[in-house]
Amino acid sequence: MIRKLAKSLREYKKPAVLTPIIIAIEVMLEVAIPFTVSYLIDLGIKLGDMGQILKYGGILVALALASLALGILAGRLSAIASAGFAKNLRRDMYYKVQQYSFSNIDKFSTASIVTRLTTDVTNIQNSFQMMIRLMVRSPLMIAFSLIMVFRINAQISLIFLFTVPFLGAGLYLVMTKAHPIFKRAFRIYDKLNRVVQENLRGIRVVKSYVREDYEEKKFKEVSGQMFKDFSAAERTVALTGPLMQFSTYAGIVLISWFGAKLIVARTMTEGQLVSLISYSMQLLISLMMLSMVFVTLTISRASAERAVEILDEAPDITNSENPVREVKSGDIKFEDVSFSYAGNWGNFALKDINLKIKSGETVGIIGGTGSSKTTLLQLIPRLYDATRGKVLVGGRDVREYDLKALRDAVAIVLQKNVLFSGTIKENLRWGNEHATEEEMVQACRLAQAHDFIVSFPDGYDTYVEQGGTNLSGGQRQRLCIARALLKRPKILILDDSTSAVDTKTDALIRQGFKNYLPGVTKLVVTQRISSITDADKIVIMEGGTIAAMGTHEQLLNENEIYRDIYHSQQKGGVLNEA
Ligand SMILES: Nc1ncnc2c1ncn2[C@@H]1O[C@H](COP(=O)(O)OP(=O)(O)OP(=O)(O)O)[C@@H](O)[C@H]1O
Ligand SMILES: [Mg+2]
Repeated sequence: MIRKLAKSLREYKKPAVLTPIIIAIEVMLEVAIPFTVSYLIDLGIKLGDMGQILKYGGILVALALASLALGILAGRLSAIASAGFAKNLRRDMYYKVQQYSFSNIDKFSTASIVTRLTTDVTNIQNSFQMMIRLMVRSPLMIAFSLIMVFRINAQISLIFLFTVPFLGAGLYLVMTKAHPIFKRAFRIYDKLNRVVQENLRGIRVVKSYVREDYEEKKFKEVSGQMFKDFSAAERTVALTGPLMQFSTYAGIVLISWFGAKLIVARTMTEGQLVSLISYSMQLLISLMMLSMVFVTLTISRASAERAVEILDEAPDITNSENPVREVKSGDIKFEDVSFSYAGNWGNFALKDINLKIKSGETVGIIGGTGSSKTTLLQLIPRLYDATRGKVLVGGRDVREYDLKALRDAVAIVLQKNVLFSGTIKENLRWGNEHATEEEMVQACRLAQAHDFIVSFPDGYDTYVEQGGTNLSGGQRQRLCIARALLKRPKILILDDSTSAVDTKTDALIRQGFKNYLPGVTKLVVTQRISSITDADKIVIMEGGTIAAMGTHEQLLNENEIYRDIYHSQQKGGVLNEA
């Protein structure tokens, strides 16, 4: 796990390595200080020798200044190293997420990915900074102090032989207990983020259904749960405090007691006792720091595991070894395709689909909600891979293509379409970043979007809010169609993409497609039969299978359900209007 994370250090390796080295030097200087003090007392102050006092006093000041300077330098370097590390780690995780397929994202949930990229990385950053500062400092300090104490008086140093292992065992127990609680707490963090995200994204719905109370209750529940878990974890971790203090004070009391006896017995000087106590203090403070490092490490271990999970997740839709970079035609073929969102053992959303569509054809797809229309279409640009059987585009298995080439050739306007914050032009350029002004206007005319765009004061430079909230549903749909057209695709898939567009405009869009995009294979999911009466083929989906297939006339004659829907929609006046 650590090796995996360390890969993100990259250009910050230098400060990350320099920090402990500088700190090691600083520690040596600091260790020399109490030693010098003992000389100052025993050779200078006690004998009243001004020359010696000045000499050792001077050394003392120099040592203090040097260690201060090194301390500041180490602080800076460690901040650079840890912030840089976090930056790289975040980038690596983000890049990885970009490679994820829809099913990878389904697995983590967006809320969890967000928490992992923010809170978890921050935790890792904090503990990394602490680690490079203290992981070297504390053990070194402990080792040096122990040596010094041993040199001054071997008997007294035996005290530490008891306190240190006692402390170590206590710390170990606390950490092993706290880790699982922290792990659980972070999962609740995900949940909290999900609740907040869902609420804010759907705030208009929440308000119009006057569901604020319910949402508040939901929030309170999750944050209450989080409070419980985090406080339980912190409570366990807080045990380290008393544990430390007990060992510290017990150590000091014992040293003072033995030390006083030795001075009376004239086997130790006062200066030695003073430096002995300073060394013991340093030693115990270092132990305390070390225990803090362990606390932070425990918290961040859970975070580190979660970050590594993101890095380790294998994108399940990847390029093949020698990808084909050109999609020859808009032919589509489904061969015995079955698909389940949960892999081979789940419920099959598509069952044994066989379907052949020739380049340039227009195919209408209708069926009740949940009949797997969207699922079927998502297999064509490989948003998901077929669980069994294969999908062919241009005569080749979609898995043989370079993903970018395939997705450039297959433009899909998703049912849940999304616009990004930015101008209309910027949004259109998602389809083709090099699109010229004329191409944009042409695509927008085809999608019946040009007229409403120029009616805005800023025209094509009108700012679209996040999610396109300042546009109407039908305007948004038409922009998404124009965006897809700019790709100049060989296959154009519209998943219920004109549901919010009035029937007249819908008919105009269809007419335009027929006249100006004759070579493009068009797949149109719709609830309105009127939208597809002139299609080359109409597919009726039912429960994940193809219930019937044929032209409008054939289906009218042969399929009772189709006839029923057609007549009921006609009565509704939908057809006449178009
Ligand atoms: N990401 C997903 N994970 C798991 N199951 C899913 C997922 N998306 C859809 N399903 C399931 O697959 C089935 C088919 O859904 P699909 O979205 O393809 O239907 P649809 O025909 O497009 O419906 P609609 O007309 O409402 O858009 C449904 O039972 C649905 O619950
Ligand atoms: Mg759908």
